[in-house]
Amino acid sequence: MTIQWYPGHMAKARRQVVEKLKLIDVVIEIVDARIPVSSRNPMVDELTSHKPRLVLLNKADLADPSITKEWVAYFEKENWATLIIDAQRGKGIKDVPLKVMEQAKPLLDKFRSKGINPRAIRAMILGIPNVGKSTVINRLANKRITNIGDKPGVTKRQQWIKVGKEMELLDTPGILWPKFEDQDVGFRLAITGAIKEEIFDFQETMVFLLSYLKDEYPNLLKERYDLTELTEDVVDLFDAIGKRRGCLVPGGHVDYDRVAEIVFRDFRQGKLGNISLERPNK
Ligand code: G4P
Repeated sequence: MTIQWYPGHMAKARRQVVEKLKLIDVVIEIVDARIPVSSRNPMVDELTSHKPRLVLLNKADLADPSITKEWVAYFEKENWATLIIDAQRGKGIKDVPLKVMEQAKPLLDKFRSKGINPRAIRAMILGIPNVGKSTVINRLANKRITNIGDKPGVTKRQQWIKVGKEMELLDTPGILWPKFEDQDVGFRLAITGAIKEEIFDFQETMVFLLSYLKDEYPNLLKERYDLTELTEDVVDLFDAIGKRRGCLVPGGHVDYDRVAEIVFRDFRQGKLGNISLERPNK
């Protein structure tokens, strides 16, 4: 589900995150491994600077593995623990509590030095819509407890989920809005399905994707659509894919919206292959 964000929503979501953070020892931030920077609101750094953090690069099953490794190095440079996960299949999830406890070590040491028996470490999940927050919470809880597509501003009584012996997780995630002042960030969010394509021009978003694929993943594009050559002109590429897929309107012209739908769907389902839309420092 995609949420329309208005200034009132944003202020409320921010307030809710700030409130929840008061209860939290370790922040678990989820980003989309295909667009790790575009899929985060930079505000998260300002809000959580005083907390240890674990970054989960989710949907790694769809991303380019070599680029995902570059992102791990990028986030670790920031001194954040990082894990590559595929929450849909549960890959990497079992390491989450271990990493959270590692991040909480200074706090546990502090308890011990004061002679206090350490209590359970409290964590919360934070991220933009559709990044996989509910899926991760359900995996960690080992059951389905969060409605997929939680709405911001809708409050329900929050509860702690026990994860192993030493960790507790807040059952409601902190939701932040995606930030897309930069048009390319907006395109990446639309392509991955984090925001509705309609917010952007469907075909313009498609031109962005095809130009990118042509430069970065030409062979995947050729293989998927059975193309021998990739033309320089992206409109010609649209035409070639449309003809291959029979997306024609009466008169023999290519139906560009249908082509875009097919390519977006293929991208999101991983049928084009493992693709990352963003690299560190690019
Ligand atoms: P949210 O709470 O952050 O809003 O995200 P949620 O868990 O609802 O996940 C959004 C979509 O992403 C879901 O697909 C979910 O199955 C999918 N997803 C979550 N983690 C992964 C992952 O590691 N890999 C892949 N491939 N998909 C993942 P959905 O229910 O089909 O929703 P939609 O795609 O129709 O929006």
